[in-house]
Amino acid sequence: MLAKSAGSIKNAEMLAYLEICMEKYIINGGKPLYGNVSVSGAKNAALAIVSAAVLVDGTCVIENIPKIRDVAVHLNILRRLGASVKLINDKTVEINCSGIRTTNALFNDLTRKTRASYYFVGSLLGRFGAAHVSLSGGCNFGGVRPIDQHIKGFEQLGAKVDVRSGIFHAECPDGLIGSSVFFDISSVGATMNIMLAAVKAKGMTYLENAAKEPHIVDLANFLNTMGADIKGAGTDIIKIRGVSKLRSGFYSIIPDQIEAGTYMAAVSACGGEIIINDVITKHLDCISAKLAEMGVEVEDLGDAVRVRRTGELSRTNITILPYPGYPTDMNPQTAVLLCLANGTSVMTETVWPSRFKYMDELKRMGAIVQVDGSSAVIEGVKALSGAPVEACDLRAGSALVIAGMAATGVTEISGIEHIERGYENLIPKLRSLGADIVTVNVADNDEASLGASV
Ligand code: EPZ
Repeated sequence: MLAKSAGSIKNAEMLAYLEICMEKYIINGGKPLYGNVSVSGAKNAALAIVSAAVLVDGTCVIENIPKIRDVAVHLNILRRLGASVKLINDKTVEINCSGIRTTNALFNDLTRKTRASYYFVGSLLGRFGAAHVSLSGGCNFGGVRPIDQHIKGFEQLGAKVDVRSGIFHAECPDGLIGSSVFFDISSVGATMNIMLAAVKAKGMTYLENAAKEPHIVDLANFLNTMGADIKGAGTDIIKIRGVSKLRSGFYSIIPDQIEAGTYMAAVSACGGEIIINDVITKHLDCISAKLAEMGVEVEDLGDAVRVRRTGELSRTNITILPYPGYPTDMNPQTAVLLCLANGTSVMTETVWPSRFKYMDELKRMGAIVQVDGSSAVIEGVKALSGAPVEACDLRAGSALVIAGMAATGVTEISGIEHIERGYENLIPKLRSLGADIVTVNVADNDEASLGASV
């Protein structure tokens, strides 16, 4: 029965995925945005927290979980491992992993759909002392995304690690021993993965040069709610005292900093005035400050921000840095603003130096950009013009949506499966603000255009 239902899940999933690959967005640009929009739970916190449920011996109820494809993939990995996963409602899931009896997550069809699937290495290793997980995938920024810091951290805790034949193997039959791990680079993934492995290790673990993003703090808060002993998340040094058991509990995921930033960029590009609800304004400080420099009005309303742009956008320079610096996941969306600003701006990307692939698509819309290694020199133009473009990754896709909404004329965006991975209800939310966007099936559209040409 389980096999059949797993098979039917797989078929249904595959059909849904193939269908979305046959769709595209059609945007009629030039409309200002007005109204209210609410932000969903943070994707990059949810992916880690769902994976962390493996460590909990009992039931965890997780609220404010975003209804996005990547989270569905992680919930299906849990199901295939033998966990019970129940959707209480659209935003709440009940997970019980006490039934998991395997350390093999050899589900290449699922793990390669997200980058974060490698968190199942940390959580399975942390609970069982062993993990065998098919390699992850995720957004491609022009090269393999390294995992050397993950390997270094697991080995530091006493695990034997081997990556071969597309599988990430980590084993420590005698149990992990707490240790000091000094990361060579600020890595969100490695910080979270080693945290997952360390929460039940014997003794103290110190993560030094740790990443400080809001989702790191959220994962630590989730684990502490379940009985872990983690201090210092959000600072350079995270101290973890190993505990023997994590108990059942209830947790609500923080709002998505980047989703909020994407709507801030949208109204800054299109003009108008919107209120973005259910945010943690502290997480938006770097974005708000930079938008203010460009002439956008950002007002802190406590658990919301009011964003208004009426005049011209001013040029500026941006250096992308780990949190609390300007976030790399706002790089593409912000570049659209620089394309529309008066004057020449420079953006320097220090996290994913080869992240500027999307600029070729913006050039199709009239952007004037010179990419030189990890920097982009952007000369502002009066307006972008609608064109057929293709999304190459999640945030680049959202940037093309913003560019299409701000441009004159019609923009067609293909590759929207990238966008649907990480934004909950992006199109309905933008339409509620006045954007003129529809999703069409490519087959229908081809017939329609064929009809038009006959
Ligand atoms: C996470 O990716 C996010 N993904 C990314 O968001 C985000 O861009 C990135 O953090 C930076 O904030 C998820 O959380 C699922 P890193 P991750 O390890 O963990 C180097 C989105 O749009 N590095 O912090 O893969 C790496 O090459 C996605 O939501 C190593 O050298 O990023 C990069 O230069 C896109 N060795 C830097 O560290 C390692 O072992 C930061 O990477 C790991 C990373």
